[in-house]
Amino acid sequence: MTDDRLAIIILAAGQGTRMKSALPKLLHPLGGVPIVGHVLATARSLDAGHVIAVVRHERDRLVEAIESELPGATIVDQDEVPGTGRAVEQALLALPDDFDGDVLVVNGDVPLLNAATLTTLIERHRNHDVAATILSAMPDDATGYGRIIRTEAGALDYIVEQKDATDAERAVNEINAGVYLFGVSQLRDALAEVTTDNAQGEKYLTDVIGLLRRAGSEVSALPVSDSWLVEGINDRAQLSAAAAKLNALLVRAWQLAGVTVQDPATTWIDIKARLHADVTLLPGTQILGATVVESGATIGPDTTLIDTEVGAGARVRRTDATLSVIGAGAEVGPFAYLRPGTVLGERGKIGTFVETKNAQIGEGSKVPHLSYIGDTEIGVESNVGAGTITSNYDGVHKHRTTIGSHVRTGAHNTLVAPVSVGDGAYSGAGTVIRKDVPAGALALTVAQQRNVEGWVEQKRPGTAAATAASAASATPAVDAVSDDAAAAGNVDS
Ligand code: UD1
Ligand code: CA
Repeated sequence: MTDDRLAIIILAAGQGTRMKSALPKLLHPLGGVPIVGHVLATARSLDAGHVIAVVRHERDRLVEAIESELPGATIVDQDEVPGTGRAVEQALLALPDDFDGDVLVVNGDVPLLNAATLTTLIERHRNHDVAATILSAMPDDATGYGRIIRTEAGALDYIVEQKDATDAERAVNEINAGVYLFGVSQLRDALAEVTTDNAQGEKYLTDVIGLLRRAGSEVSALPVSDSWLVEGINDRAQLSAAAAKLNALLVRAWQLAGVTVQDPATTWIDIKARLHADVTLLPGTQILGATVVESGATIGPDTTLIDTEVGAGARVRRTDATLSVIGAGAEVGPFAYLRPGTVLGERGKIGTFVETKNAQIGEGSKVPHLSYIGDTEIGVESNVGAGTITSNYDGVHKHRTTIGSHVRTGAHNTLVAPVSVGDGAYSGAGTVIRKDVPAGALALTVAQQRNVEGWVEQKRPGTAAATAASAASATPAVDAVSDDAAAAGNVDS
């Protein structure tokens, strides 16, 4: 049920200079979702009456990400006055005048924060008569964070930023997590008092805590049990550490749901991926985007699947696949490259050193070796010979190749699109198929072979080849087999 007495403000206006990146900090992904997307998803799950996101730096790119992750959010543009306090001050203007509930402020750069932690914070705040409750943590390294300064009696007194802290204050290792719950009127009043008189020349939200205390209000800090929950991301070292933590949580959750993950350290699973019981992930595997793997499938080693569907019992080895569908019981790889639009039917095969793109390969059909199949449709139970290329591009336009069902094409064929091969047709080895092949026909384009008898002994006398040739001609030759099947030169495996 929507909590109309709760407003959430997400701070996403900062520049994120410590990332040293052209990409705004909050758009750097972990687990396949931008940093800010994690915070927005958590905020969304609380079902608050009001959600406001504050933007400024690269605002259009941020707004796009925010609207895709949390469509109902109100966007507020921060003005030129810098600081988290200013961001909140301006966000409050977007709330209805008669709103008198609680305001949850969350920094946009704490992606591992979960809903359970926020729910605890909200309950704790509402069960105590305090003007503000904040989350604190005890990380291994407090460098860079605002420090929580408590009174001798242990009550929260104020927060001091690293850059403004004395040596004694810096020695404190309890830090401000950047997650706060305030009564709206107390927050408004205190923010009006905040100045930019500090080392960074910013309006700090953190100053509100000391101001509330001095105005005689109670404030409290709730330590979280695991500091990783609230670790802020400011640089790329923190980004990779958070991504590894998130991945470890996801791998463990899938293991407990029945997925075998042989090597968690080299297996990466995005947050939106879905795996079924009895899937096996071998080392070096990345299950990215909205990839779905059905039960009993084995993926890896060294495989990257992006937005790809894998059917039950399929086997995918040393493969890179994007926006593809791999049917149940199908076999892919090793060393296959499936580009967008590849759809492999049940029991089908895309084998070794094969690249496919926009290719629909029917049930039981196989492209086993060394091929490029693009803009192509293949029926059921067909076999494409080793080293086959669909020439789909005339330099200006892409054209389609159609191969029917129960077709057997020879090794090293080139299909010059647009072209089609009818059901049950064959083609010889080395055929260049430029014209449509009718159903049941054998297509051949290679000129007949001519043997110049005795050429080596005449033209290369004294060589080892010539000696071998004369020794061979001394013994009676075995008749060469020459039937249609040999002429077709099919490779079938
Ligand atoms: C902030 C806190 C610090 C705390 C830490 C927790 C302040 C002054 N300091 O420091 O006490 O320990 O988070 O991770 O709040 N932002 C805006 N507008 C701005 C500046 C920042 O919206 O003008 C946003 C940023 O996009 C970011 C968040 O606020 O999502 C925090 O900003 P950041 O610069 O990372 O603050 P810290 O220095 O980490
Ligand atoms: Ca930060």
